[in-house]
Amino acid sequence: MPESFDVIVIGAGPGGYVCAIRAAQLGLKTACVEQRETLGGTCLNIGCIPSKALLQSSENFEEAAHKLADHGVVVGGVTLDLARMQARKGEVVAANVKGVEFLFRKNKVTWLKGAGRIAAPGQVAVGDQVYEAKHIVIASGSESIPLRGVEVDEKRIVTSTGALELDAVPKHLVVIGAGVIGLELGSVWRRLGAEVTVVEYLDRILPGMDNEVCKGFERILVKQGFKFKLGSKVTGATVGEDGVTLSVEPAAGGAAETLKADVVLLAIGRRAYTAGLGLDAAQVALDERGRVKVDAHFATNVPGIWAIGDVIAGPMLAHKAEEEGVAVAELIAGQAGHVNYEAIPGVVYTWPEVASVGRTEEQLKEAGVAYKAGKFPFTANGRARAMGDTDGFVKLLADAKTDRLLGAHIVGPDAGTLIAELALAIEFGASAEDVARTSHAHPSLNEAVKEAALAVAGRALHI
Ligand code: FAD
Ligand code: NAI
Repeated sequence: MPESFDVIVIGAGPGGYVCAIRAAQLGLKTACVEQRETLGGTCLNIGCIPSKALLQSSENFEEAAHKLADHGVVVGGVTLDLARMQARKGEVVAANVKGVEFLFRKNKVTWLKGAGRIAAPGQVAVGDQVYEAKHIVIASGSESIPLRGVEVDEKRIVTSTGALELDAVPKHLVVIGAGVIGLELGSVWRRLGAEVTVVEYLDRILPGMDNEVCKGFERILVKQGFKFKLGSKVTGATVGEDGVTLSVEPAAGGAAETLKADVVLLAIGRRAYTAGLGLDAAQVALDERGRVKVDAHFATNVPGIWAIGDVIAGPMLAHKAEEEGVAVAELIAGQAGHVNYEAIPGVVYTWPEVASVGRTEEQLKEAGVAYKAGKFPFTANGRARAMGDTDGFVKLLADAKTDRLLGAHIVGPDAGTLIAELALAIEFGASAEDVARTSHAHPSLNEAVKEAALAVAGRALHI
């Protein structure tokens, strides 16, 4: 008799492992299949966590080398020990993935080690072993999108995975794609001494984020030394003795030019990963972009098979996957799990950071929603001045009639932390006036949020 579970989750990334823990909390007999050596998925192993470790270390290096002197702290002779920096990153990752293993033991989630395949509805095969499951949750995540003519070897031409592992600072790093990965990992290597050129197909960086915020951010990045080739596409790359030669053309067509790089980071997006899951045989439907198709309650077209995280539609974010993991476990247990997609923040962990929740100004215009905007710059915020971090601003968008907060966009110091109060405000259906009338500690960066909320009604106090 095959061992039988209430729930088998395939994939132990933030979607899958959180789903498994929540299902176990709800009293369901739960297993999670993972083919990596360690738990935590893309996010903990080769994504969020190692990239944030290197972002922090490289920011510390840049501070010591270039910023602290302005505060009267003279360190002198700052040198880079990249091997130690990389080793520390490894320690951070190891501690996090071990933490998930501990949580599995604590919650009595069984880790089925190996590649999982849906053998039939209600059956998951892992190697030769077949397990029965009343419910199967697909949480297999995503992978980097390849580009024809640009062959990844993870040494000279790398995806984010290779860019997190470089053992020397490249002289010239060319990044293909001005999205989140390109700008975060581009920042890491620029801070450590690389010249960074970003080639982007569109005529703007960070598509999908608020235009005005991105324009401001682009100016800040250029000031930091980033070079941008917007409206350009890479049509081929050859690796030689002396590095990589890229051919680059205007996106709209025209004469090609060549660009030399020591290392090329290909970061043009990620796509759903479904290889080897047996979805064809199980007749699980995919959408036009190869993502598992689900209804509003994460159910696929096959009864008893659900899907969450990067493998379904929506922003490819760890916390979005986690919310879905919790919601689907609660739905399976007969509760009313739900995710509010209007209140999922997005953060770019550069310095300054960029953060956003809710609708952008462009989305409101397109939807014909009448809105009021309130803005406040960090140059007018006392704490930002004390920190010496005055680049950027807060922008809030509220419904013109009801004053309900519809969107919040920040470029500035700790924007990723500041956005949390605005995600909460949107979740609670707060108005801009609610935020404006809330006492914000002085002197704090959060006061810029309050001032932007006051600015929605044209009554900011400090500008
Ligand atoms: P994943 O984390 O991709 O996990 C899926 C797991 O399933 C994998 O471990 C895979 O091995 C396993 N798997 C797949 N198929 C099978 C199978 N058949 N059998 C067994 N196991 C299988 N998001 C943020 O919110 N914040 C960030 O700061 C951030 N930084 C990022 C930085 C980088 C460089 C990258 C690449 C991504 C980053 N992301 C970030 C995105 C984030 O990593 C993903 O949104 C998140 O990991 C998605 O979670 P998931 O559970 O859906 O899938
Ligand atoms: P992305 O979708 O953010 O950006 C890709 C960029 O590449 C876009 O600007 C796009 O216009 C451009 N592009 C596409 N094809 C191109 C081409 N042929 N030539 C030049 N440019 C081209 O994707 P990215 O940066 O790879 O990240 C993947 C996902 O990982 C993101 O969607 C994000 O959700 C997630 N992520 C999240 C992070 C965070 O939350 N801080 C950090 C890193 C990744």
